[in-house]
Formats: sequence, structure tokens, C-alpha cells
Amino acid sequence: MSFTLNNQWAVVTGASSGIGTEIARRLAGSGCHVVLVARRQERLNEVAARLEQEHRVQTRVLPLDLTEPGAAQRLGEAVADLPITVLVNNAGFGKTGPFNGEDFAVYQRMVTLNILFLSELTYQLLPRLREAAGGARILNVGSIAGYQGVPNMVVYSATKAYVNHFSEGLHWELSDTKVRVTNLAPGKTESEFFDVASMRGTQFARTGVLSAERVANLAVKAMVAGKRNVITGWDNRLNVFALRFSPRWLVGVVLRFLFREMK
Ligand SMILES: NC(=O)c1ccc[n+]([C@@H]2O[C@H](COP(=O)([O-])OP(=O)(O)OC[C@H]3O[C@@H](n4cnc5c(N)ncnc54)[C@H](OP(=O)(O)O)[C@@H]3O)[C@@H](O)[C@H]2O)c1
Repeated sequence: MSFTLNNQWAVVTGASSGIGTEIARRLAGSGCHVVLVARRQERLNEVAARLEQEHRVQTRVLPLDLTEPGAAQRLGEAVADLPITVLVNNAGFGKTGPFNGEDFAVYQRMVTLNILFLSELTYQLLPRLREAAGGARILNVGSIAGYQGVPNMVVYSATKAYVNHFSEGLHWELSDTKVRVTNLAPGKTESEFFDVASMRGTQFARTGVLSAERVANLAVKAMVAGKRNVITGWDNRLNVFALRFSPRWLVGVVLRFLFREMK
């Protein structure tokens, strides 16, 4: 079942920066109209203006804090008049540092955005995606951090384990429908994530970093093809593959070493 982006409508959460902006650009470059969602309205307006000008697509800007109660419902209602066939669940954030080093409210927002909102929006839109005669696509942004527990990033890595598993399960559950679910597991990617997660300037964040544009291109290509999973970067693919054959204790010791500077 082939799927083309031209003249489809996509919802992209977290479209005001980084991977989300680049995914929106890549979609628009293929003629797909885009609903742009995040908190910073001015940034969304700038992205929308650029997409309309450069790619002649339609856009809709929805400034929403997706951690607010009822956000998924509000978003669903705000796009009820559009024939949405692509859902990109990209909004998310992480924090590095010792578990007790953050206010618990930060973790509550992280779990709400990375897990609950992503699940609820998918739940809201799935019936409509299933009805799309030409098929539909869901792209969830997990992470390679979700393949194991990561010291000094424990809540974030656990939320991304949820996304990786949620996407995989839903991919197989929907495999006899025209909806395809793809999980994107990026490795280190240049974006505001490093600032929000307090990782900027660390040795860890200086090496093996891909551009958000490259990550978005790989993600959209895999999503259109209906692939189950895409891990960005050969080194990340190798690491995830090696995890299958490595003792858990060894993985833990290596990660403890790699994330020691985040303490
Ligand atoms: N960069 C990496 O190394 C990396 C690696 C693996 C996975 N990821 C994942 O990739 C996804 C995109 O991150 P990124 O790297 O592009 O980081 P980013 O540049 O910080 O983008 C995060 C996006 O999420 C939005 N967002 C954050 N909190 C929100 C909220 N409460 N309500 C609505 N929108 C919210 C932000 O917009 P506003 O601030 O305007 O709301 C922004 O558009 C995330 O799920 C992240 O976990 C990133």
C-alpha cells in the first residue's frame, strides 16, 4: 500500500523548534499541509509563514501547552474540520541530573507530555485515521535512550521506553489496517533539547550529533514507507543491536560512565 504526502494534512506537535520544525518542513516540501502545535506562538507563526511561502502549502497554528488537562481533546476539536491523515507525536523534553535534583513537578510535566499526551492524542485521532481511504501514518518520536535505563536521565529514559514500546505494539496491532505506525528513535540531535535538558556544553553532547534536518528526513522517509522503527545514525544502530547480546550489568556500567558528567 503506497502512501503519498501530496495534499494530505498532518498534525505535528513540537513544531516550534528542532526535529519538529524540520519534520514540518520536510512534509511541506512534499506538498503536505501542516497543523503546527507547540507553546510559542511567534515561533509557530514564523515556521508557518516560511512553509506557506516556500512550499505553497496551507498551515494552521495551534499554540497549546500540551501538559494542560484536556489539551488532547482541545487539539482534536481544533482540527475536526480537517482531513488529517498524518500524526507526528514529536513534542517532548528531558532533563539530566540526579533524580532528586529536580522538582517533582518537572517529572510530572515530562510524563504528562512524553507519555500521557502522546497516548491520548493518538487515541483521539486514531478512529479518523482508520477511516482514511488512502491510508494514514503515525510517527512517534521515542529515543535510543528508551532502550535501557539511563543514569542521571532516569525519568526521561523511562518515558521514551514507553514511547518505543507503545509504537511497536500499535504498529503490529494496526498491521491489518491502512494505518502504519513508525517509531523514530533519534540519537543525539542538534536542537534546543540540549538546552532544556541541561546537556549543552558537556562532552557527551559534543560528539556524534546529527542535524535535526537529517533526522527529520530519515524519519519522514521511514514513515511514508510504513516502517516500524527508524534509529538515526549507524553508531546508534550498532549500539542498539549490541544491547541484545550484552549483559544488562555491563550496559549499566558503560552508561554510568558515559553520563557521569551529568551529575
Ligand atoms: N535532540 C535530541 O538529542 C533527541 C534525542 C532523542 C529524542 N529526542 C526527542 O525528539 C523530540 C523533539 O525534540 P527536539 O530535539 O527537537 O527538542 P526541542 O528543539 O527542544 O523541541 C521540543 C519541541 O516540543 C515542544 N514542547 C515542549 N514542551 C511542550 C509543551 N508543554 N506543550 C507543547 N509543546 C511543547 C517545544 O515547543 P515550545 O517550547 O514552543 O512549547 C518544541 O517545539 C522530543 O520528543 C525529544 O525527546 C531528541
